[in-house]
Amino acid sequence: MPDRIRVLFVGDIVGRPGRVAVRRFLPPLCGEFSPDFVIGNAENAAGGYGLTEAVAKELFEAGFDLLTSGNHIWRREFLPYLARAERVLRPANYPAGAVGRGYAILQKEDKKLGVINLEGRVFMRSLECPFRQGIALAERLREETPCVVVDFHAEATSEKLALGWYLDGKVSALLGTHTHVQTGDERILPGGTAYISDVGMTGLRDSVIGMKKEQAIEMFLTQVPRKLEVPKTGPKKLEAVFLELEASTGKALQITRLRRED
Ligand SMILES: [Fe+2]
Ligand SMILES: [Fe+2]
Repeated sequence: MPDRIRVLFVGDIVGRPGRVAVRRFLPPLCGEFSPDFVIGNAENAAGGYGLTEAVAKELFEAGFDLLTSGNHIWRREFLPYLARAERVLRPANYPAGAVGRGYAILQKEDKKLGVINLEGRVFMRSLECPFRQGIALAERLREETPCVVVDFHAEATSEKLALGWYLDGKVSALLGTHTHVQTGDERILPGGTAYISDVGMTGLRDSVIGMKKEQAIEMFLTQVPRKLEVPKTGPKKLEAVFLELEASTGKALQITRLRRED
């Protein structure tokens, strides 16, 4: 039995700049932290909206073991791939009948890591309860390994904190995604669960959550909805957290917040 499991989790990868940032910053981070498992949220990795099969494969080649996602994963043409992909998750708390899977168990040699993807309900779709689904899945995965990481893709920090406390001691980490803004509240809760409200974003640095800032400003000024575009050029960043877990208990020993930028 290994004594430690090391996990690098990369925050929402947005469009081509996000993938460029992955290629630029992920290899040195892996050299520095030697993670056993590399996970990233890829719900915006293709053109800023959703994922494609080609982009998923590009990210696996760049070093990811598993991709999580969220509300933007449901691109029509991606659904056949999502239905059969074993290493792409969509939030587990969509109603029965939604394609894809919401959890996975990764294994490398004698190291086993469970991963659960959930979506929040505050200012988002009215899905199944992420609290009840989360605890049921955590218990199921813990029958296979005590090390379980949750990507909670949610808007409200209150909902994220509440789920963190609810799952404290039941999972190794509750990592927030979706807002694309990295929060400075990373900590280990008393039961041994690593927590951060949002891991952050990987993409164009001088943007509004990865999209063209001029378009976002115009949208807020006029209240006219529009599809925002990903900027083509500019400095890039990668935001992530590094976790160290005690393999025998699943308790978090470390959560380190990371940012690498041009
Ligand atoms: Fe996102
Ligand atoms: Fe999202």
